[in-house]
Amino acid sequence: MFLNKFPTISLRLHRRLLGGLCNIRGYCDSKENGDDEKKVETVTINFVMHNGKKYQVPGIVGIDLRQAVVKADMMEKLDDFGFCGGNRWCTYCHCFFEPEVYKTLPEMCDVEKYYAEFLLNYKAGASRLGCQVDVTKEMDGITLFIPKRFPDQDD
Ligand code: FES
Repeated sequence: MFLNKFPTISLRLHRRLLGGLCNIRGYCDSKENGDDEKKVETVTINFVMHNGKKYQVPGIVGIDLRQAVVKADMMEKLDDFGFCGGNRWCTYCHCFFEPEVYKTLPEMCDVEKYYAEFLLNYKAGASRLGCQVDVTKEMDGITLFIPKRFPDQDD
């Protein structure tokens, strides 16, 4: 019984612990928040959830995928995508890229790699933390898959 409840408890605890720490930035590099008004170009990013639900998110070229989701007010629909504010702690921005797109992405920094590879559903050649991937013009129309955070997560 305890084990069945663990993912739920863990998720709530995780949210509480990280909720107050959203403004701390990571270790490898730091990014601007991308909230300035230099809206140059927008592409469409398709998200497919673990339960099959599909969403389209407009992504401004140059901001990261988490910022795109937040700007589109889609965070909740995408299972709190980017919950920690891009600090590379929550891994709630974990998504799978299609192999041909994955190959075009800049390499992960050590911190992203550490957290991504720690995930139970990590897939080499597909997994990235969306908060660490900037939107590019070439991403127009790509599809990202968001896996379950826990094996027994509800749909
Ligand atoms: S937003 Fe938390 S790790 Fe990416």
